[in-house]
Amino acid sequence: MTQKKHLKLKKKVIYIGLFVLTLLTFFVNLGLHFYQNYKYKQTNEYKLINLGYTKEEATLLLNTFNEDEELKNILEMKKNDKLIALIQEKYYMKKNLERYLAYMDKNKETSINEVVTLVNVHRDSNYYENTIEANKDKGILLNVNKYYYLSEEYVPENLEKISIRFAYAGNNIISEANNAFYDLCKSAEQEGLTLIVNSSYRSYENQVNTYRSIKNSKGEREADKTAARPGHSEHQTGLSVDVFEKNNQSTATFKDSEAYTWLKENAHNYGFIERYPEGKENITGYNAEAWHWRYVGIDVAKKIHDENITFDEYYAFYVEN
Ligand code: DAL
Ligand code: ZN
Repeated sequence: MTQKKHLKLKKKVIYIGLFVLTLLTFFVNLGLHFYQNYKYKQTNEYKLINLGYTKEEATLLLNTFNEDEELKNILEMKKNDKLIALIQEKYYMKKNLERYLAYMDKNKETSINEVVTLVNVHRDSNYYENTIEANKDKGILLNVNKYYYLSEEYVPENLEKISIRFAYAGNNIISEANNAFYDLCKSAEQEGLTLIVNSSYRSYENQVNTYRSIKNSKGEREADKTAARPGHSEHQTGLSVDVFEKNNQSTATFKDSEAYTWLKENAHNYGFIERYPEGKENITGYNAEAWHWRYVGIDVAKKIHDENITFDEYYAFYVEN
């Protein structure tokens, strides 16, 4: 073989080699592409996008639910347009997801914001249905309402007389609240407002009589809007006071008084909150009571005031969650 022929053959082998290598690379890449595509189709992100969620929505859902049971449920459902809005709600709680969805299903006109609020405070059950014993371990954050009750025997520790300078005789609240209330009253006094308590700690037995007498005069339906059933009154916690001004002790007009305006602007700085505000009746379960103030401590009172939420909402999201 001449040297020229030998060189030609060498070149041919190199070309064939290169061609085979290119072909091999191509098929390997193609295979890799198909494999990656196949793998992606197994992911929850793909499944969510396939259901109609955008990539951003899918990412949000994946971050919210990780790999847990709820994600499985979401993947089994049709795309739920309200789900994304729901999980972005400030007070959204993961543990309530199924209840939010059930409530939304039954109450199509209710806004998502309201659904979250109502379900968080148990309003997906009727009042006095599915009641639970109140958690006494929460101390000054003990929550008693139409869903949480105290036993007949429950009497708070450290009850103290409220100074008769600011209360009618026989009024008691727990010591910590009493000290804070005294400071509050002294500040109000500097503004020329003399506050006076006409009801505070009430025993279970006392509430039996309070509720019964209102029920007898107005009937159960009306009574339930203004008085708690025995065991369900916040007055049994020793953390609340019904406060008026010395020269305005009318439940009908107290909301228009200077004292009420002062309390609204200042009470949180002493650890007290308005417990049954106007416009929140569907959350608290009671008609507005401008005179009923509840001790929760300064930090919590400030937060409740700043976020403009009720204690029921605060408790659901920040204490129980
Ligand atoms: N009036 C309030 C709701 C009570 O009876 O405890
Ligand atoms: Zn009250």
